[in-house]
Amino acid sequence: MNKLKLSTYIAAEDLQKKVNEMGATLTKKFKDKKAIAVCVLKGSFVFYSDLIRSIDTDITCEFFGVSSYQGNTQSSGEVKVTLDLSVPIEGEHVILIEDIVDTGITMNYLKASLLARKPKSLTTVALLEKPEALKVPCEIDLVGFKIPNDFVVGYGLDYQGYYRNLPYIAQVQNFQ
Ligand code: IMP
Repeated sequence: MNKLKLSTYIAAEDLQKKVNEMGATLTKKFKDKKAIAVCVLKGSFVFYSDLIRSIDTDITCEFFGVSSYQGNTQSSGEVKVTLDLSVPIEGEHVILIEDIVDTGITMNYLKASLLARKPKSLTTVALLEKPEALKVPCEIDLVGFKIPNDFVVGYGLDYQGYYRNLPYIAQVQNFQ
């Protein structure tokens, strides 16, 4: 396995605090409504599982698998669907939950793909956004942290498949 030199970028307690705030915002927005919370695999699964537990309203869970990095640290610019939703979303409130928006290509692809299915509403959520890395305009309704254009791992985010299980977000100091 790659041994990267990591430095803590966002500590576990700070992540939990932010996730709880985001959950409270979504609870308020979807009070007395039903919504489908869509987890974008693989990177969002840790953030997603914490976030849905801080949303106090009726939600069902769906999973959408996409791959855009294919193990690298640069987006390939092509989005490949690896797992589609298991239910139609027409007429439903949908909350799309992403780990990180880098170039914006994946989020734009996901938005277009879900909007084409005619949901009643689509709310986009990302834990992290790298505004300097955006290559296409991309508006996100709810963002946890804006970060510089550095590669980060942990809390679901990987480098070559590893480091997803770190309980905090780390910056990588030494790429080979
Ligand atoms: P985008 O299409 O360039 O915005 O890339 C989005 C996807 O790339 C995210 O869903 C992540 O899976 C991955 N990604 C982007 N930046 C990072 C990073 O710093 N670390 C790990 N994965 C990243």
